[in-house]
Order: sequence, then C-alpha cells, then structure tokens
Amino acid sequence: MLTDNHGRHINYLRLAVTDRCNLRCFYCMPEKGNVWLERKDLLSFEEMLRLCRLAVTMGIEKIRITGGEPFVRKGIMAFLTDLSNTKGLNELTITTNGVLTAPLVPELKKIGIKSVNLSLDTLDRDRFLAITHRDELANVLATMEALLRHGLEVKLNAVVMEGQNIQDILPLVQLTKNNKVTVRFIEEMPFNGGETHYPTLNWDHKKIYDTIHGAYPGIEKLSDPEYSTSYNYHIPGHTGNVGIIAAFTRSFCGTCNRLRITPQGILKTCLYQGGGTDIRQIIRQKPDNDTLRQALLTAISHRAKDGYEAERNRLAGGIHESMATIGG
Ligand code: GTP
Ligand code: 5AD
Ligand code: SF4
Repeated sequence: MLTDNHGRHINYLRLAVTDRCNLRCFYCMPEKGNVWLERKDLLSFEEMLRLCRLAVTMGIEKIRITGGEPFVRKGIMAFLTDLSNTKGLNELTITTNGVLTAPLVPELKKIGIKSVNLSLDTLDRDRFLAITHRDELANVLATMEALLRHGLEVKLNAVVMEGQNIQDILPLVQLTKNNKVTVRFIEEMPFNGGETHYPTLNWDHKKIYDTIHGAYPGIEKLSDPEYSTSYNYHIPGHTGNVGIIAAFTRSFCGTCNRLRITPQGILKTCLYQGGGTDIRQIIRQKPDNDTLRQALLTAISHRAKDGYEAERNRLAGGIHESMATIGG
C-alpha cells in the first residue's frame, strides 16, 4: 500500500497522454496561439506503459487517462488495450470531451473499460460553440448515447462559469430524470492558460447546490464513495444522480488519493503544484526499476498537505497553466 507523508492512501494515477485537443474550452486554454508539445517531448507509449505497470506493482489500483483530449493521440486504442492487460490494475477509466469517442465505444467496452467521464458544459448548441469555440455538441451527445447504450457508467462534467452556462445548470440536472448518468458540476479553477480568474469564486459549490435545491427541494444527499471528489445527491424519481465538485474550494484534499503524470512526463502530487518530478528525464536514462520506484516514492513522501499549501509553494506567482498541460 502506498502512503504519503500525511498518511493518505495513494491508489489512483491520472495519466495525461497529450496536451492537444480538438476543442478550445475557454476555461482550459486560449482559443488561439497555443504552442503544442512536440512528439519527442511527450512520453512515448512504451514509457507510459512501463511507468503505469511499475506504479501498479507499488499500489496503484485505478488509472484514469486524460489529456488534452486522449483520443486525438494516434495509437491510443492500442495503448489502452495494452494497459488494460496490466495485472493488478482494477480500474481503467477515461475522461474525454466526446468529440471523437462515439464510434470507439464498442471497442472501449471490449477492452474492459466500464466507466467514462464526459465533459459537457451545456446542452445548447450556441453556448457550446461560445464555450468551446467548436460546433461539436451533436458528436458529444452521440457519445453520451453510445456509452449509455453499451452499458458503460457515465459521469458528465460541467464546469460552472459565471456569465456562460448558469442557465444550463437546471437543464443538465434534468438530464438525470430519465438517463442513468451522474451530472457533476465543477467549480471553475484558474487553469485556463491565461491570467484571469476570480479573487473570490462567486459560483462555488454552495451556490451551485442552492440553485439546484431551489428547483428540487426534495434533493437528498447520498453517501459519497471513498476518495470521492464530488458531493453526491439524488433527486427522488430521477434515474441518475447529481454531483458537485468543490475543485477550487478544495474541500476533499484530506482524502486525496491521486498522482498525476503530465503529457511531458512531470509527476505532480497535487493539481495545484507548480512543476514536479521530471520522470521523463529519469526514464530516458534507462534506470532499473528500483531507481524509478525510488523517484516515485520520494515525490509521494513530499506531498503538500492540501491544494492551498501546494499553491503557496509555487515559485512563480499566479497560475498561468492550461488544464490541458496537466490533465485535469
Ligand atoms: P472519478 O474518478 O470518476 O471520481 O472522477 P475524478 O473527479 O477523479 O476525475 P475527472 O477527470 O472526471 O475530473 C472531474 C473534475 O475534478 C475536473 O475538473 C478535475 O480537474 C477535478 N479534479 C480531479 N481530481 C482533482 C484533485 O485532486 N483536485 C482538484 N482540486 N480537482 C480535481
Ligand atoms: N476548472 C475546472 N474544471 C476544468 N476542467 C478543465 N479545465 C477546468 C477548469 N479551469 C475539467 C474538464 C474535464 C476535466 C478533466 O477537467 O471539464 O472534464
Ligand atoms: Fe479540450 Fe478538455 Fe481542455 Fe476542453 S477542457 S479544451 S475538451 S482539454
């Protein structure tokens, strides 16, 4: 079992396989002027497989593939197939924007993926275009339908953005009426690849909850799974559930069980950490497993106690990174 310097159990690895994306969600990256990593600067599939397999022998039980958008990286399906055959890995999951995913769902199911998190901030085509700068809502909805039709668990991730999609909160909640989905509303975080965020966040988890509660006074709290990032709720009579992720308020750091590896191979022990351990540099020196294992253990034994401490430890002031370079 892997334990950090604050006694937290670590069993979840988030692996970002690319910084590229076929959308330009404004809360994640600028519309123009993005400079993408070159292929040689990304971890190769072989390097990622080696790292994941080693991490599983150390106690990682769940791996989530993120990006950027994972499915824009060429060769990703073969990689997922290889990774899914890792002995000891209990859960392999993906977070995707759903633009390219619908036709791949049968294959995902075949390799044993049981659950997919899908980013969807609005059900309105014009607002989807305004938020993502691409007219792709129909493809994302097709992915949701394909996932449900094939019996995969679906969580929808909606970032709540002042002045952008507040009017979408209740229609998204209404999706849970007849669909077996969990719709999770996420506090917007300052990872948009630019300068701007809020000194205080107006649309925090409490305000999101009050908005939903106002329309559905019968809403009930569910017990949350261990290590959950979301507070989960059920509306009586609905098929699906609702969740709220206090990602900016950072109220779940006390049970944080995850590590992150960025597309360029930086190991981060917190989303809000600046920099991290350069695993790519280490792995390219062809180390033995003990050396690689030690690099992971050293990082795990120097974790910040929460996202606030990690943010305070950042060398440069402010957060100017894009979520696509970290993996969410
Ligand atoms: P499950 O594995 O299904 O519980 O999902 P998850 O919340 O771990 O992953 P997902 O990729 O769906 O992320 C949903 C939102 O939670 C995104 O906005 C993430 O950036 C945010 N999130 C995930 N992990 C953390 C974390 O450790 N800290 C913070 N602050 N936010 C996180
Ligand atoms: N704030 C909150 N969530 C974000 N995501 C991307 N950027 C941000 C941000 N600035 C979410 C996406 C995706 C998940 C991995 O991270 O919606 O579902
Ligand atoms: Fe792409 Fe996801 Fe970033 Fe949107 S949030 S631009 S879908 S990586």
